[in-house]
Amino acid sequence: FKIPPVSNEPMLSYAPGSPERAGLQAALAEMQSQLPFEVPCIINGQEVRTNNIQKQPMPHDHARHLCTFHEGSPELVEKAIAGALQAKDAWETMPWNDRAAIFLKAADLASGKYRYKLMAATMLGQGKNTWQAEIDAAAELADFFRFGVSYVEELYAQQPPKNAPGCWNRTEYRPLEGFVLAVSPFNFTAIGGNLPGSPALVGNVVVWKPAPAATYSNYLVFKILAEAGVPPGVIQFIPGGAEIVQAAIQSPNFASLHFTGSTNVFKSLWKDISSNLDKYKVYPRIVGETGGKNWHVIHKSAEVRNAVLQSVRGAFEYQGQKCSALSRLYVSRSVWENGFKTQYLEEIAKIKVGPCLDWNNYMGPVIGRRAYDNITGFIKKAKEEGGEVLIGGSGDDSKGFFIQPTVILTKDPRSTTMVGEIFGPVVTAYVFEDSDYEKTLELIDKTSIYGLTGAIFASERQALLTATNRLRNAAGNIYYNEKCTGAVVGQQPFGGARGSGTNDKAGSISIFYRFVSARSIKENF
Ligand code: ALA
Repeated sequence: FKIPPVSNEPMLSYAPGSPERAGLQAALAEMQSQLPFEVPCIINGQEVRTNNIQKQPMPHDHARHLCTFHEGSPELVEKAIAGALQAKDAWETMPWNDRAAIFLKAADLASGKYRYKLMAATMLGQGKNTWQAEIDAAAELADFFRFGVSYVEELYAQQPPKNAPGCWNRTEYRPLEGFVLAVSPFNFTAIGGNLPGSPALVGNVVVWKPAPAATYSNYLVFKILAEAGVPPGVIQFIPGGAEIVQAAIQSPNFASLHFTGSTNVFKSLWKDISSNLDKYKVYPRIVGETGGKNWHVIHKSAEVRNAVLQSVRGAFEYQGQKCSALSRLYVSRSVWENGFKTQYLEEIAKIKVGPCLDWNNYMGPVIGRRAYDNITGFIKKAKEEGGEVLIGGSGDDSKGFFIQPTVILTKDPRSTTMVGEIFGPVVTAYVFEDSDYEKTLELIDKTSIYGLTGAIFASERQALLTATNRLRNAAGNIYYNEKCTGAVVGQQPFGGARGSGTNDKAGSISIFYRFVSARSIKENF
């Protein structure tokens, strides 16, 4: 069989009066009338209530919560691993077409029957506005599943090019021996689906710990996968915290970590895994996408209007909480003074901040108390260090965790907000002399401990080329004349270099190599 051709899920407009707007509104109303939901752990297809109850507050209205969830325990993790290993044989020997069909069906369910429900959960629980929820929970999630199937088909087809007379050489791409631990983040429901989904697609069994702040949307994703036909035990769903991760990496059957989250947590997990190495049957595959400190560099030849608009979107969509979000902005003086500064501040002044349920709000809340305090702490520190707040700089956490879009102008390219990861709606701008373009590129490179995304705005080809060469390790995803966010599955494989991760490129064939253990077979006739 050949799988049907795949394409990106078309994005809907949600224009006033459109059927999709009505559909989403109905889903939001229904969800709000029913919350809080109760989320159990799911082990071997069974709901498990541990009665260690945690809450997922709604960031736009933190006194209320979207769901309560039953936090898993180390004992439950052990049970989950045992159950997963029992489910493993049937899953990995299931014909590929059937595994593929399950994921293609999951994509259709996510982008069809459950589209608005998933979006509503992402909006209420993770603070996305409609269009950000559409990009994530409706389109990207389905794209991960559909393109994943297509990539795995391509992977399985890769065979040794040569056979000597009288023999046949072939390669099997077997799943890993043991289980994969998926630890997913709050900021993309789609990544929630991809972290367990990609390893499962190639026949692995997975223990999945979603981020507490995305529990409900991720639970819906789990249920979609189950409805599509992922058998009980193949993906074990265990909400909760670090205890679950620690319990899983103690197991001798631990075979891989598929992680998206902070650099510090990833590093510390890597160390913990290393210290357990003698316990494991295999060398674990560690795959992680972590922090970022993403940049735009605006050359003197840039088209100003485009650079302005892209720098607004890159920094402030989803409140700067995409791992790819723009955080440091380097602008050539002539551009800054001839329109960029004025237009940038004018555009930002138009941004409305408030609950994501109001269609006029471009920005919603940041995810929670810790994020709010951390981001406002960065703004305070920038002021103390002599940064000039050009716009924004304030927040209001009385009802929800709202922070105004903020631009800080600094004269010190090594100031705290120019180098530290903020993960919020704060951009620090540094103006360089037109003649210092190359020096500035060197500076960006030197101050990039991360290497996730970056964008160069220039109409002179040579300026693009020079930056690309100088900054070759400072971003795993680089854009010319476009914002540094918004990688599309199947179009821009996504992942960062340096402290931003193992750069295995989600949304491409590369990632699947990490979750298979190939076996070469030579048969003599
Ligand atoms: N893949 C997401 C983006 O590129 C994080 O914005």
